[in-house]
Amino acid sequence: MHLPNLLQDRFRNALASVTDRADQYAAMIRPTADPKHGDYQCNCAMPLSKELGRNPREVASELIEKLQIDDVCNPPQVAGPGFINLTIKDDYLSRVTSGLLGDERCGVSSQEGEQSIVIDFSSPNVAKPMHVGHIRSTVIGDALARCLRFLGHRVVTDNHLGDWGTQFGIIIYGYKHFGDAKIVDANPVQELSKLYRIVNQLIEYRKSKKSIDALERSVMDAESAVQLAKDALVNAETSKQKSAKKTVSSAERRCSGAIAAVEAARLKIDAVENDQVWSERASLHPRIDEAVLEETAKLHQGDPENLSLWERFLPHCKDEINRVYERLDVTFDHTLGESFYHSQLSGVVQKLRSEGLAQDSDGAVCVFLSGFDAPMIVQKQDGAFLYATTDLATLQYRLEQFDPAEILYVVDTRQSEHFEKLFAVADQFGLEHVKLVHVNFGTVLGEDGKPMKTRSGSLIGLESLLDGAVERAKKVVCDPERLRTFDPPMEHAEQEMIAEAVGIGAIKFADLSHHRTSDYRFNLEKMVALDGNTSAYVQYSYARTQKILENAKKAESDIVKLIAKEGWVFSHPAERNLALMLMKLEESLVGLHKDYAPNQLVDYLLETAKTYSKFNENCHVLRAETPQIQATRLALVCLTGRVLQLGLHLLGIGVVPRM
Ligand code: ARG
Repeated sequence: MHLPNLLQDRFRNALASVTDRADQYAAMIRPTADPKHGDYQCNCAMPLSKELGRNPREVASELIEKLQIDDVCNPPQVAGPGFINLTIKDDYLSRVTSGLLGDERCGVSSQEGEQSIVIDFSSPNVAKPMHVGHIRSTVIGDALARCLRFLGHRVVTDNHLGDWGTQFGIIIYGYKHFGDAKIVDANPVQELSKLYRIVNQLIEYRKSKKSIDALERSVMDAESAVQLAKDALVNAETSKQKSAKKTVSSAERRCSGAIAAVEAARLKIDAVENDQVWSERASLHPRIDEAVLEETAKLHQGDPENLSLWERFLPHCKDEINRVYERLDVTFDHTLGESFYHSQLSGVVQKLRSEGLAQDSDGAVCVFLSGFDAPMIVQKQDGAFLYATTDLATLQYRLEQFDPAEILYVVDTRQSEHFEKLFAVADQFGLEHVKLVHVNFGTVLGEDGKPMKTRSGSLIGLESLLDGAVERAKKVVCDPERLRTFDPPMEHAEQEMIAEAVGIGAIKFADLSHHRTSDYRFNLEKMVALDGNTSAYVQYSYARTQKILENAKKAESDIVKLIAKEGWVFSHPAERNLALMLMKLEESLVGLHKDYAPNQLVDYLLETAKTYSKFNENCHVLRAETPQIQATRLALVCLTGRVLQLGLHLLGIGVVPRM
């Protein structure tokens, strides 16, 4: 059920005899801001009257005469300069709402298509521990997959694991120089990530050493740029002051960025040089950064020792991420990592060359693209292939295997340029018919507004983050004071289950509640609150519906019979508002698909929970005035529960029967 689409169809028909732009005008239907003006409003009469050179109110009245809508709405009203206000008939609303009873899809129609939608998400670089940055791709991608699949699309999910990159060079080097076969075999997951950390810290140290002079120079340059900009501001004429101020603040921003880069590099240098063990390690491994690249290159060239280490380590790396997926209840149809495409890469380069798309340039093979400063490099001087080459091979494979209409890449905004180039090459390859979308997202920030790190500067591990949320959820929801009234009392196992559902749900919901392109600050306390825009609030609303149904001793099948016997009646505006909300699930899902933005569904669920809360304040169910009123209210409670449960499920979040 998509009410705005239905209203648009009716308007389109009425408009067709008046204008060629019926589609455009019919699209101007919105929910009203103020219920005084009805439920929906169409604003097309004003622009249409301009086109026709006539009075807008007159145009609106004529349109109403042509409009065939009396099965759905009360007679439309013209208001103000020519708004057309629409109020849905109670009779229509009750018919549609009671039709949702017993409908597993909660009224959402199915939009089947022959072609598939491939979703590339999560895709971490394994061999290094998963951190908070990985949450977004995993959670957003999983929500998109669930929603699009529910809408009826053939969804193919693929975890494009980074299982072939430098991070393996890092653990191979670490194993050869710092590892101990027995210790690694005894506790592989932990040991490998320890080796990763050791080597990575030494590499970062090297890099910082190499770049610190240049970084310091760039601070000096940035400081003089600030000074220049400030001088220019002092001397600027009034009309130029605004832009001069802007120049100052952007120079200051650049300067603080440069200072932060120096500080970060200093920190990495000091951490090694102020520690005896670390500085000894650093002096014993002076060219560790190059050596790691050599180990990676050897792996790629099929060196037997490195290949067998890789084969030995990879399953452990996968175990580690699978634990996280299990906890997050995330699954994939395919996990085709970068290594899967290795044998296809030289073929891709050959094809690009033979089609005249790639050329040699300084010994490397490049695709030059108009509109980009730098070309896409597909093979380096030393013969190595790149991230982009693998993505081209992956694209080719997906087209052959899955016949997609759309491929979504749920990846950090910082990779925008990579995807712009990839899509530009795809266009030249003749793939314009596939919709390639970089479903980009912003950064998770700490409470200080900076990318989230632990005190020692490393990124916060994903598992400890999840543990923290569950612990917090337990404090909030399973507070003994709160639980005192529960009958039967809540056993330990139930408390654990609730804390897990609420804690994990909170992290997902908070992430999905922001538009994916914005950064957000991670604040556990806010995320897990029972009152606020949180999953706990929605889960709690669901639990309230279940409590009422339990007290009334009614299952959905009983309510269907009751409604058939008693009929449906709206006796309070809060009931009507709730019914109208329950019909809007499809609208939110279609909107979500259009923008690949799960926050549309989050907003819908929050609004529904709030509308339900108003209903609860105003409408007694068990003490309803008449059997008909009670039947209607029971139906609304039951449907609210189902819509909230389904909506949360589509976001990958569970519910509990009581909390
Ligand atoms: N492994 C990459 C990273 O962690 C993300 C891969 C995204 N998918 C892709 N097809 N490029 O940065």
